[in-house]
Amino acid sequence: MRNAKWRAATKAALALTGAAALAASMAMFLPGTASAGTTLGASAAEKGRYFGAAVAANRLSDGAYTTILNREFNSVTPENEMKIDATEPQQGQFNFTNADRIVNHARSQGMSVRGHTLAWHSQQPGWMQNMSGSALRQAMLNHVTQVATYYRGKIAAWDVVNEAFADGSSGARRDSNLQRTGNDWIEAAFRAARAADPGAKLCYNDYNTDNWTHAKTQAVYNMVRDFKSRGVPIDCVGLQSHFNNDSPYVSNYRTTLSSFAALGVDVQITELDIQNAPANTYRAVVEDCLAVPRCNGITVWGIRDSDSWRSEQSPLLFTSGGAKKAAYDAVLAALNAGGTTPPPTTAPPTTPPPTTAPPTTPPPTTPPPTGSCTATVSVNQWPGGFVANVRVTAGSSALNSWATTITLPSGAAVTNAWSANRSGNSGTVRFTNVDYNSQVGAGQTIEFGFQGTGTAGNLSATCA
Ligand code: XIL
Repeated sequence: MRNAKWRAATKAALALTGAAALAASMAMFLPGTASAGTTLGASAAEKGRYFGAAVAANRLSDGAYTTILNREFNSVTPENEMKIDATEPQQGQFNFTNADRIVNHARSQGMSVRGHTLAWHSQQPGWMQNMSGSALRQAMLNHVTQVATYYRGKIAAWDVVNEAFADGSSGARRDSNLQRTGNDWIEAAFRAARAADPGAKLCYNDYNTDNWTHAKTQAVYNMVRDFKSRGVPIDCVGLQSHFNNDSPYVSNYRTTLSSFAALGVDVQITELDIQNAPANTYRAVVEDCLAVPRCNGITVWGIRDSDSWRSEQSPLLFTSGGAKKAAYDAVLAALNAGGTTPPPTTAPPTTPPPTTAPPTTPPPTTPPPTGSCTATVSVNQWPGGFVANVRVTAGSSALNSWATTITLPSGAAVTNAWSANRSGNSGTVRFTNVDYNSQVGAGQTIEFGFQGTGTAGNLSATCA
């Protein structure tokens, strides 16, 4: 009896594996059959962006939850598992068990990970709450260094510092034990994070920073401007965007996004939820992000209403039963409709066309490859190792898949890659798209990265 059951289950599993393999190979040969535009992640990826969700490790064993997560999202943020109390419960003793569960799940699904958060006044372990002065400053910097080093190469963006400004009209820093170690604690944290993981984007993250007229928004803006002018390593600003009756969405939100972006940082909507999930407000938030080229991703703070930290407000895109809400449809429609790259504003050249006769050599008989691309590499090198970020840009036609090769100097080897499949680890290494970044619109760019040992030198990438 048990044997027959086991055989039936194995057969079902094999049939599934076969079907999945067939679907995968069909997707490779039949461009256009991919699911782009039918899920949040695929649609955002078409616009060169990600769509993420906050994930709780203890829900990964809930099949209904992971079904939605794996289908809809291409980025995750651990909801609590990377906070200081979770990762360093005793001073100097680190615990990455639950954070690793989320990171490993994300990587197995080709999703990127936002790290949240390295330095924060809240959710500190008891030992840290009791510290002050230079001992606390040292402990904070050690925490940043240890955690960012442990996850080096696996985190797309870190919320290095969370919620360091006060609410209300003061525009001042929030009082906290960290703030009392000296006003430069934020930039010290960013420098430590950059040294530990030079490949991760480093973000400042906060709430009530959505309304452009608010003192808190202006205060964060001024800090970011100051950091950029002094070369403090900051790459992005996270707007939590927890909207509710006390802190509503306002139409100047787009001004806030574009104003931060104009400082030369990416902008990410990091913890979106909206009381009662009005479809129109969700749509407006997505449209605002798509209107700002450097608004490169949106994360909702949970999947189903029952997963929300504010579940009584039913603020998310899926019902507690896992059904898509009207807000989901509005978000998907807005993602599919928007996000075209604005045309260049420079006037066309006024020089007359060249008068030389056209070349007499016949045109090549091989048609130009469809879906050609160009790729650039930037390398962050440290003694003995490096992280490379690669930007793949589609030519004048959209791509349904892409491949690029990079030749490493001898002695250099790739140890891991993200947002791409890889073959080879030294010499000429070939990288190809993963599911969620196969579709690249004409002129649009996607990014992937890899980490390696040895010295990379100046790398160049060739689209194949
Ligand atoms: C919240 C989590 O969702 C809850 O599970 C936890 O009890 C408290 O923290 N701003 C942040 C997030 O940056 O880390 C918070 O997450 C929500 C507000």
